[in-house]
Amino acid sequence: MKAVGDTSPRIISREIESGFYLLRVDDEKVNYFEAIWSIPERITYNAYLLVEDGGAVLFDGWKTVYADDLIEAIRGIVSPRDLTHVIVHHVEPDHSGSLPKVLEANGFRAEVVTNPMSKPMIESFYKICPKFRLVKDCEEISAAGEKIKLINTPWLHWPETMMSYLTNRRILVPCDAFGGYSIPRTILDEDDEVVREYLPSVRKYVATVIGFYRQYIIRNIEKLQNLQLDIEIIAPAHGLIWKRNPRLILDYYRSLAEGRPDGNKILVVSGSMYGLMEKAARIAVEEVERLGGRTAFYQFNDLEQPPFSEIIGNAIDSRAIILAAPTYEAGVYPPIDHLADLITKKIPPKPVLILGSYGWAGIVAKKLSEKLTGAGFKVVEMIEFRGSPSEEDVRRIREGVRRLLESS
Ligand SMILES: Cc1cc2nc3c(=O)[nH]c(=O)nc-3n(C[C@H](O)[C@H](O)[C@H](O)COP(=O)(O)O)c2cc1C
Ligand SMILES: [Fe+2]
Ligand SMILES: [Fe+2]
Repeated sequence: MKAVGDTSPRIISREIESGFYLLRVDDEKVNYFEAIWSIPERITYNAYLLVEDGGAVLFDGWKTVYADDLIEAIRGIVSPRDLTHVIVHHVEPDHSGSLPKVLEANGFRAEVVTNPMSKPMIESFYKICPKFRLVKDCEEISAAGEKIKLINTPWLHWPETMMSYLTNRRILVPCDAFGGYSIPRTILDEDDEVVREYLPSVRKYVATVIGFYRQYIIRNIEKLQNLQLDIEIIAPAHGLIWKRNPRLILDYYRSLAEGRPDGNKILVVSGSMYGLMEKAARIAVEEVERLGGRTAFYQFNDLEQPPFSEIIGNAIDSRAIILAAPTYEAGVYPPIDHLADLITKKIPPKPVLILGSYGWAGIVAKKLSEKLTGAGFKVVEMIEFRGSPSEEDVRRIREGVRRLLESS
């Protein structure tokens, strides 16, 4: 427990099994992951340490600001000078930021085991030239009494990203993949309630961080299956460790990558400067619910501006989407236009209903539908009107919703 007023980060150092340790820092300060995605639930960075037979292997690390804390956490188990290997699965600085200080504390004695693509990134990010051991796909190294297979898993999250499989212990250390946002109350997936609370943060993380590379989630899961790895523990670089049910997170990642809908959830997002468009959006919400659908309804107006991270987290497993936007300076109301950009990049195609409102010349239906259909989304119906919806427009909106539900 931290004392009141203590601003030091919460650090968890736990032996998961004999000689294999989790080193987790709970980043309670971050507001925007990658300086974009609003995460009021925050995030953890998980590094791992394997200590046995005179060897000590560090898997990844923490964000730069926590480098000294990581060194302290390592020191609680083994002297940083005794690290024989540091495995860098991924160069994004939420994991590699601590590398220069860790290597300094180690006297640059350890081999930095990584993908050949990582070397120029590490050298240029941190201006260091450590002892590299560059490994090929599926190459096995022996370290700390363990055989560690390094598997290339490109685009989960960057092109250089690898995972480690500890052959004797049957542990997969997948870095970003199979992780999620938030600071779970436990370190393992042992509690159903913790898992249930955690999964929406996994969904948000997948949509925002690796949604653009979702094909590679599927490809790399298949690669792991083809390698016939017997996986008992999945130890990711963010969030919960999967020991009781590693299958659950593999299946959940796959379902998100495929955009499989969570029941009858329809995402409805409306932008409205003075409330005219909002009237139409509310009619659509009402009609979805009347027809048995469930809505996730977000509104941009003069009172609220919901986070895009939250919306696209709810888009990835929706059955269909309704976008309602007024015309703004001969274009689409900017927040909805931006949302459409994010949706077309980060989630698999879904059926869409477009609602547009204008004062003198409508352009929303044309512009939004071009953007969405260009990315493979099916625009089921476009309903555009001047000002607030007339009785006839209301009828068309209800009919559009019915067709949307039928087509999804
Ligand atoms: C800042 C601003 C820019 C607008 N630009 C356009 C425009 O370029 N073309 C148009 O037809 N209407 C334009 N309008 C009118 C709105 O699109 C129209 O009144 C719409 O019904 C507004 O719905 P809302 O109150 O839900 O935002 C603009 C309105 C505002 C406030
Ligand atoms: Fe990453
Ligand atoms: Fe990460």
